[in-house]
Amino acid sequence: MNILLKDTDYFEYVEKIKNFATEKKRTYRVITFGCQQNEADSERIRGILEEAGFEPSPEEAADVLLFNTCAIRELAEKKVFSMLGKFKAQKTNSEDMIIGVLGCMAAEKSVIEKLKKSFRYVDFTLEPNRIHDLPRLLYLALAEKQKNYPLGMDTGDIVEELPFVRKDGASAWVSIMYGCNNFCTYCIVPYVRGRERSRESERVVSECRELVESGCKEITLLGQNVNSYRSDISFYELVKRISDIPGDFRLKFMTSHPKDVSDELIELFADNKSKLVPYFHLPLQSGSDEVLKRMNRTYNTERYLSVVNKLRKIRPDIALSTDIIVGFPGETEEDFQKTLDILSEVRFDFVFAFVYSVREGTPAAKMPEQIDAKIKSERITKLLKIQDGIALSKNQKYVGEIFDVLVDAKDIKDGVTVYAGRTPTSKRVHFSSEKELLGMHVKIKITRAAPYDLYGEQI
Ligand code: SAH
Ligand code: SF4
Ligand code: F3S
Repeated sequence: MNILLKDTDYFEYVEKIKNFATEKKRTYRVITFGCQQNEADSERIRGILEEAGFEPSPEEAADVLLFNTCAIRELAEKKVFSMLGKFKAQKTNSEDMIIGVLGCMAAEKSVIEKLKKSFRYVDFTLEPNRIHDLPRLLYLALAEKQKNYPLGMDTGDIVEELPFVRKDGASAWVSIMYGCNNFCTYCIVPYVRGRERSRESERVVSECRELVESGCKEITLLGQNVNSYRSDISFYELVKRISDIPGDFRLKFMTSHPKDVSDELIELFADNKSKLVPYFHLPLQSGSDEVLKRMNRTYNTERYLSVVNKLRKIRPDIALSTDIIVGFPGETEEDFQKTLDILSEVRFDFVFAFVYSVREGTPAAKMPEQIDAKIKSERITKLLKIQDGIALSKNQKYVGEIFDVLVDAKDIKDGVTVYAGRTPTSKRVHFSSEKELLGMHVKIKITRAAPYDLYGEQI
């Protein structure tokens, strides 16, 4: 169900926090790990903290320090525990400091147990689908020195109208659906983010309209399986409605599941009324049908390739990216070779490759034939080397061409102002200029290519 913030106890606790110790200025810091979904959630978390009267901390530490965590691989979790450890001394010396663990790790039983045992200075945890509960937990920690580690509180509702603080005006993430129903056998997301739920289309469209009216130049629709969006209208219809918003803006979406890519969605890439940019992120995971089956991906390579071919036929300049897992349990040399073959066949513009990481509680964790770490590491090195060559040769084709670049970063190096931005195909471009260009569209001629970056000059 979609419910409104005013129908929860949110405002009651925001007021309580504001009335508590009003003489003192309080600061916050949110440290974000993981995917864009978490980045988008952190915008809401900052919004809540500012509504409750906190100010961003100019320093590393803060009165309220929140970790928005990721559980996707073991390494992601290790990073969080090591960061937490760094703040132990500070926290034990400062009575008033509050530490909270939010995000996907906060929905794992094993993590809660570890926090209770070895990180007793953490004040509270909060599952990703309960962000509106932050004022209550924060108030209990601040005013009553209460520790809380609630688990299993996700009701399956979407709470609308949470405040937010967006960092940069030119690009924005808009979450349109939450959770996942797919249960790929290696993946922890369905356990920590719950079942799929979609926002009402009217809310999504008006959020996008407000963004465009306030000067936003690029909207990325977000969801664990963004194209599985299903509310009063389909994902395809939603993209069409957002495209109808008047204004000069780019529209992207991620992450798509190959099983839910419809032909009408593909056709939108050729429709000049559509604001979609020619870029599609479509996780493949493996080039072996046997492995895909054991991963429970529900498509085979034939289906995947047919989507790719249709996309390229309709939009020859489309850039494609993918996710690959190497070393899934039982992956043979032959299976791995099939992944390399498909990479050479499709020639993706970007590949995000990961070594399989055992996630406790998922079916793949119990599969026999876990692959040796050394083999996994050899395989990923080999894959990345091949992909670097492909990416470089694809980028070299951009040299001499002129692209519209949306500028999103500025830096001063040796007295020279350098900017970075993205082409409509999502390629990173670097160039220098003396003018103020942040957040603007500029025409750039590409002069040099590297596997992951392009360099150019403004014309
Ligand atoms: N919902 C998206 C993204 C999920 S997480 C999708 O289905 O594509 C992003 C990527 O992390 C996945 O695509 C997968 O490649 C990788 N991943 C997920 N679980 C993993 C694990 N246990 N070990 C290694 N990589 C994993
Ligand atoms: Fe994980 Fe699969 Fe769901 Fe993606 S579709 S979040 S990989 S379970
Ligand atoms: Fe990580 Fe959660 Fe995103 S596990 S990848 S932060 S959905």
